[in-house]
This record gives sequence, structure tokens and C-alpha cells, in this order.
Amino acid sequence: MVINLDYMSEHIKKVYSFYSWIYDAFFGKIFEHGRYSAFRMMNVKPGETILEVGVGTGLSLPLYPKDTRVVGIDISREMLDKAEMKKHYYHLSNVNLYTMDASSMSFEYGAFDKVIASHVITVVPDPLRTLKEIKRVCKRDGEIFILNYTGCNNKFISRCEEFISPFRDKVGLGKHIDLDELLREVHLSILSEQRVNLWGMCRLIKCKNTLIPA
Ligand SMILES: C[S@@+](CC[C@H](N)C(=O)[O-])C[C@H]1O[C@@H](n2cnc3c(N)ncnc32)[C@H](O)[C@@H]1O
Repeated sequence: MVINLDYMSEHIKKVYSFYSWIYDAFFGKIFEHGRYSAFRMMNVKPGETILEVGVGTGLSLPLYPKDTRVVGIDISREMLDKAEMKKHYYHLSNVNLYTMDASSMSFEYGAFDKVIASHVITVVPDPLRTLKEIKRVCKRDGEIFILNYTGCNNKFISRCEEFISPFRDKVGLGKHIDLDELLREVHLSILSEQRVNLWGMCRLIKCKNTLIPA
């Protein structure tokens, strides 16, 4: 099957241009627990450089201490506009935001101490390429955090989710992926993991960027 990535990226941009108006009201509270848990797991230290891949409306930006440098990228200009508003509202002079495709970033090798992709890996058109890029821009021995709804443990529900996956993908809410398989492919091993959000429906994963390149 030939997947037209350009078409899919354009589609994601359109979908999130619409979601940008309702995202915080809808997902702000639902994913709050995961957001705070991810921030705690990141254990951010003064002077560190952090990359938020698919930063969206920037819900987590106010959490980072001002003595860190935070870069957020997103493919959707409209989502980033909301993040820009938060940057100004909270006076986040340590935050820089760029419109950029996560599967082809313009940062140098090893530019960041820590990289986080929160509810992004299932949404991007090419998760494998995106993970390889995340590895590339993260320092050797840096840390990579992935937070995502990755399916239910219940076999029946899991089958149903696989069934509706193409629909979820079409409306930009993520597709069914085998995250463990993807991590193996890019040689990322899990250092720690926890279940977060309502009913533990999301996986929060911490990996160390040991082997470069992917
Ligand atoms: C579900 S939202 C998550 C936003 C934010 N990380 C959060 O946790 O609230 C997914 C985000 O990924 C962005 N996105 C999708 N594909 C992308 C790509 N190829 N490159 C960069 N961002 C992308 C979308 O525009 C959207 O803002």
C-alpha cells in the first residue's frame, strides 16, 4: 500500500486548524493527570534544553521552570497560535515555538537534553520516521518521553479499537500502533513506564537515547 505522506500531513493540518478552537476545553482536563505525571517524570533541571514535539496549544508550557530552554514545534500553525498566546500570557521568555514537521526537523544532531512527544506518535503520518528524528535531535544519553493512548488491555475492546482505527486516524485522533515494536525498530528501550489519565488509559514511557543513529 502506498501512503501519501504529504496528503496526510495536509489533512492533519486542516483537522487541527479546526481542533485548535476546542482543544483546551475538550482535552485540557481529560489529559491533565498525564501532563503533570510526564512533567514529574521528566525531572527537568536548571539549564536543560527541552523539545516538545507536537506541542499543540502548549498546555504544558507553563509547567517548565524559567531557567530551562523549551522549544515547541507543531505542524499546525493554528495550534501554535494558541501556544503563542500562552507564552505571552504566562511571560514564558524561555519558550520558542516553530512550525515544523516532526518527521523532518531542522535541528542539529543532539540539540536537546530531553524530548517529549505527548499524544503525538499515534497522530503523525509516519511514526517510525518521527521517532528516528526524535532520536537524532536528542543528545546521546539524553531522555525521550512518550505519552500516548496506546490501546486497552482488554482483548475485545482492543479488537474494536483496531477496527475503528482508520476512522480515528481520519479525524486526527490517532491510529492503532504497536508502540513496543516501533521502539524496538529504533533501538529505544524503556527505562520506566506508568499508566496515566482516567482508567490508566495512556502509557507514559521514559527511554534513554543510548544507541545513535536509529
Ligand atoms: C493530540 S495533539 C497533542 C498536543 C499536545 N502535545 C498535548 O499533549 O496536548 C497532536 C498534535 O500533534 C501535531 N502534529 C501532528 N502531526 C505532526 C507532525 N508531523 N509534526 C509536528 N506536529 C504534528 C498536531 O498538529 C497536534 O497539535
